[in-house]
Amino acid sequence: MKRHKSWFASLSAGLLLLGLSGSALAEEPAAKKTLGNDQQAHKECAGCHVTINPGIVKQHLQSPHANPKKASEEVRCHDCHGTKHTTMDDYAKAEMPTAEVCGECHKKQLKQHAAGKHHLSWFGMKSQIAWHGQPGAITEQGYRGCSGCHKIGEKGLVGIAEGNAGELKSDGGKEASHYRYGNVQCDACHTRHTFKKSEAKDPRACSNCHMGFDHPQWEMYTSAKHGVIWGIEGHAEDARAPTCQSCHLMEGNHEVVTPWGFLGLRIPTKENVLALIEVAPTLKEPLTKLAAALPSGNYIDLDDDPQWVLDRALILQAAGVLDGNLQPTERFVEIVVQGRAARGPEEFNQIRTAMKANCNKCHSAGFVDLHMKSSDEILKAADHEFAKAIRAVQGLYKDGILRVPENWKYAPDLLQYYDAKTSIEQELYLIMLEYRQRTFQGAFHASNDYMHWYGWAPLKTSVNNILEEEKRLRAEHQAKSGEATPNEAAPKAEKASKKQ
Ligand code: HEC
Ligand code: HEC
Ligand code: HEC
Ligand code: HEC
Ligand code: HEC
Ligand code: HEC
Ligand code: HEC
Ligand code: HEC
Repeated sequence: MKRHKSWFASLSAGLLLLGLSGSALAEEPAAKKTLGNDQQAHKECAGCHVTINPGIVKQHLQSPHANPKKASEEVRCHDCHGTKHTTMDDYAKAEMPTAEVCGECHKKQLKQHAAGKHHLSWFGMKSQIAWHGQPGAITEQGYRGCSGCHKIGEKGLVGIAEGNAGELKSDGGKEASHYRYGNVQCDACHTRHTFKKSEAKDPRACSNCHMGFDHPQWEMYTSAKHGVIWGIEGHAEDARAPTCQSCHLMEGNHEVVTPWGFLGLRIPTKENVLALIEVAPTLKEPLTKLAAALPSGNYIDLDDDPQWVLDRALILQAAGVLDGNLQPTERFVEIVVQGRAARGPEEFNQIRTAMKANCNKCHSAGFVDLHMKSSDEILKAADHEFAKAIRAVQGLYKDGILRVPENWKYAPDLLQYYDAKTSIEQELYLIMLEYRQRTFQGAFHASNDYMHWYGWAPLKTSVNNILEEEKRLRAEHQAKSGEATPNEAAPKAEKASKKQ
């Protein structure tokens, strides 16, 4: 978190000016426990529960917690659930642990986890306008859908939506107290009641969340040589193939974060933005203002050319993260800064360098460099295509052909996801969340089919469909209004061709 503090202060100050701020552990134990060895309190818990949920008691007794190397360190039911509940009827008093409870004995892992992205995922989910306004059954306690995966994050982090434009603060357990279950975070990879390290080291442990529509890392990994070899040769300590964990929790470090992140974006640097002025002199004033709020530095591997910076700026604009005048919005603070959806140069370079050093265990520096740079290039190409489609839709709004829907602050707004009101914006949403994601994520994970046929190919199809639909909408609009729209030339020609 420290890494983005310096420029963060200046950004917060900038936003205030803009008036945006509202304010030693186990091997597999040889001999498993039986209930008989337990102490009194535990006997009372386990002794009764063995008749109620025998599976829980059995799993606990087989766990490293019940079989520590030092007998004095044995962990018992009440260490995690408290001692307030003791009878058949008062079980509402049983406490459900939080990550802090695990952290009482596993300080290092808690600290690392809290510094990584998993910890922010509940906050990240709630930062999405598309999450708000969903039916309760989708967003509430039941953990079906968004919340079921995002509960790996901490609840109750207070950000700009609740008046805090600075670093995230905890609400002291207030939000979490509304949820009986699902406040542990750690159990996303070490499930109850065995809490095993070996489970968490298996890539399948990540697959219930890192799969599917917008982040199919499991499918990409298992369709790339790394995962294929893992499937064939298994996962012994000296395995030939890397796993999700050996690339993302290097040396067991729980601070999980990647350079590009989920959205394949990075924070433009001062230098990036100032270089744009040469390309777009009319934007000198807003660009100078924007540059003042940004960190300084260079990105390694593939640096940003102005066209790419511009393409990414359009993406940020279409996500409502930059406003029409290219200035950071409250979403910039909430999603990018507080939710850390993108990294600045210092952090990006640091993680990238560490990841590459890790690849060097099995590959030469040249091989790794080429892989990383060409994957960056693919993202750049995808951004360029995406920007074309965004520009087309933005033009339709500018020319009054599309109208800003009621209650929308930004339009087009990629973050409205599938609530987009027109088919052309539905298509734009698919580019953002499905095709562009698969293109660059597939490239980095060396899954050629995901990169190309599930990513780049539909991305191109979609861009073409959008450009075609733009022409159609313009022609339709023109026919209706009987006069040329401000972007006259193209639509006129189109109108003629469409009539045939
Ligand atoms: C009261 C202290 C305590 C608490 C609370 C606690 N643990 Fe542990 N944990 C231990 C001890 C002791 C060991 C075993 C060390 C050994 O084998 O010597 C252990 C081992 C582990 C291991 C390694 C298991 C393996 O296969 O080697 C994991 C993972 C783990 N705990 C996760 C958790 C999680 C998750 C929580 C919270 C739900 C938690 N622990 C709560 C003390 C605790
Ligand atoms: C005399 C029997 C008995 C004893 C002793 C007992 N429990 Fe329970 N416990 C129950 C019953 C009954 C339930 C509710 C039935 C169910 O959840 O299947 C329950 C539920 C729970 C729950 C789940 C609560 C929920 O809301 O899901 C936890 C956790 C729990 N007990 C932990 C403990 C711990 C820790 C101890 C010891 C300090 C303990 N129990 C002692 C009978 C007992
Ligand atoms: C319970 C669901 C869940 C499980 C299990 C899970 N993750 Fe995640 N992971 C998430 C969510 C949600 C995020 C997004 C967090 C955010 O940034 O808001 C995430 C983010 C990440 C990121 C950071 C991406 C970035 O933005 O830089 C990496 C890397 C990652 N996970 C790897 C793993 C690995 C490796 C495993 C298995 C050992 C794993 N995850 C298990 C849900 C999960
Ligand atoms: C290392 C911590 C830890 C220990 C020790 C532990 N539990 Fe749990 N227990 C958990 C976690 C984590 C959950 C899941 C909580 C949630 O979803 O919020 C849980 C959930 C439960 C539940 C309710 C959820 C379900 O799956 O039905 C019961 C009942 C329960 N534990 C009983 C016990 C009993 C009995 C023991 C001792 C034999 C025990 N626990 C020991 C951490 C622990
Ligand atoms: C994204 C998945 C994931 C999450 C979430 C996670 N862990 Fe782990 N944990 C792992 C992996 C993978 C390992 C094995 C690391 C290794 O040794 O390579 C591990 C190992 C451990 C160990 C054993 C360390 C050792 O050296 O033997 C403990 C203890 C532990 N985790 C506790 C926690 C606690 C506490 C939390 C919550 C704050 C947590 N973990 C959250 C994946 C996770
Ligand atoms: C050989 C190492 C390696 C393996 C194995 C691996 N990844 Fe990655 N992962 C990467 C690289 C490289 C990136 C992109 C790094 C960057 O942003 O510069 C990445 C990026 C990610 C991201 C951020 C979004 C994206 O896809 O670009 C997540 C999340 C992620 N990986 C999860 C996983 C999961 C889950 C698995 C296992 C199913 C896995 N990874 C397997 C190397 C690996
Ligand atoms: C299947 C599990 C799953 C579901 C369902 C899910 N997500 Fe995610 N989400 C993830 C994972 C895993 C990541 C990280 C992927 C990556 O980095 O490539 C993620 C990433 C994100 C991020 C990016 C955070 C960041 O800072 O990079 C946001 C925002 C998000 N999800 C919001 C949502 C919303 C809102 C919903 C429901 C409308 C939702 N998610 C549904 C698993 C899920
Ligand atoms: C533990 C060893 C190991 C690590 C670490 C590792 N790889 Fe690999 N990688 C392999 C093996 C083995 C192969 C298969 C070699 C072959 O095709 O002959 C491979 C293949 C590849 C391929 C070629 C895939 C194909 O379809 O031909 C690429 C690209 C690659 N790795 C990139 C990386 C990157 C980038 C990293 C780090 C993020 C990395 N690897 C980390 C072992 C590793």
